[in-house]
Amino acid sequence: MVKYQFIMGKSEFLIKTMSTIAYCHDRFAPLSETTISPMDRGFLFGEGIYEVIPVYNGRPFCLEEHLDRLNAGLQAIQMSSPYSHEKWTEILTTLVSKNGMGDQCLYLQITRGADVIRDPLFSALTPTIFAMSYPKPKPTKALLSNGLKVTTVSDLRWKNCQVKATSRLAYVLMYNEAKAMGFDEGIIMNTGYALEGTSSNFFVVRHGVLYTPPKSNQILSGITRDRVLLLAEKNKIPYRENKISERELLKADEIWITSSIRGIVPVLTLGTQAVGQGTPGPLWERMWDLYAADIINVSVPVPS
Ligand code: PDD
Repeated sequence: MVKYQFIMGKSEFLIKTMSTIAYCHDRFAPLSETTISPMDRGFLFGEGIYEVIPVYNGRPFCLEEHLDRLNAGLQAIQMSSPYSHEKWTEILTTLVSKNGMGDQCLYLQITRGADVIRDPLFSALTPTIFAMSYPKPKPTKALLSNGLKVTTVSDLRWKNCQVKATSRLAYVLMYNEAKAMGFDEGIIMNTGYALEGTSSNFFVVRHGVLYTPPKSNQILSGITRDRVLLLAEKNKIPYRENKISERELLKADEIWITSSIRGIVPVLTLGTQAVGQGTPGPLWERMWDLYAADIINVSVPVPS
């Protein structure tokens, strides 16, 4: 059986071998020819905001929501957005088109810019804008049904996790800790409560009710998370935004993780124990069908 992780690896492989087009310093050029100064504060301090946007059939999914979150992140680090939503849409959809349409992963990052000295003090700089996109396999139901093996990891992060900052060291360390133990993702625990994955949000199903941790400075407010809650609301699936303890996680009938790139994926193993029956649960099946229909229906039009 083909593993989802393998396919994700393959798309990362493609990025290295294809002449992917990137957008940087106001122009489109092959990624291999794109350069950024070592004095960039993104490089020196990890001082920037980013978004990862899924593209289906050449259309960025939930682009408005991603751009709103981008603006909120920039504001949180005292930067203003260099462009309007309209201008971003034009740049990003042009990039998608230059990279051959289809299903892609669109990455956008904005840093405060390059300075002349390494100085933590903010100064007025031209922000560095970098975007790239590359092919991404569609997360089909059959593929996602393979599910994931997840473990818990202890929180190493700062206190502004609602900001999608490019400084990702804590997430990278926690992810690698989970991978080194043979798991696909780590669920971050803090004072006995499960918060989110190292690059995902999570949901728990118990007696037919869907639960996810409430928005706070301890989680990223995921676009996929919001979409799942919206679909639950529209389709009268009972849900609650509640804190989830380790005990509740262990008693779950179903666990899912959600992200723009992975979609909604059932967790079949938590640590050493099976989640529910150890197979994708009925509510996941239903939510996936609703989400897949949503992917087809909601996307921004590509400019002609
Ligand atoms: N990460 N929580 C964390 C810590 C994340 O890094 C992500 C996504 C999410 C899910 O957010 P969304 O549904 O908006 O993708 C939650 C992206 C995909 C990444 O860093 O690659």
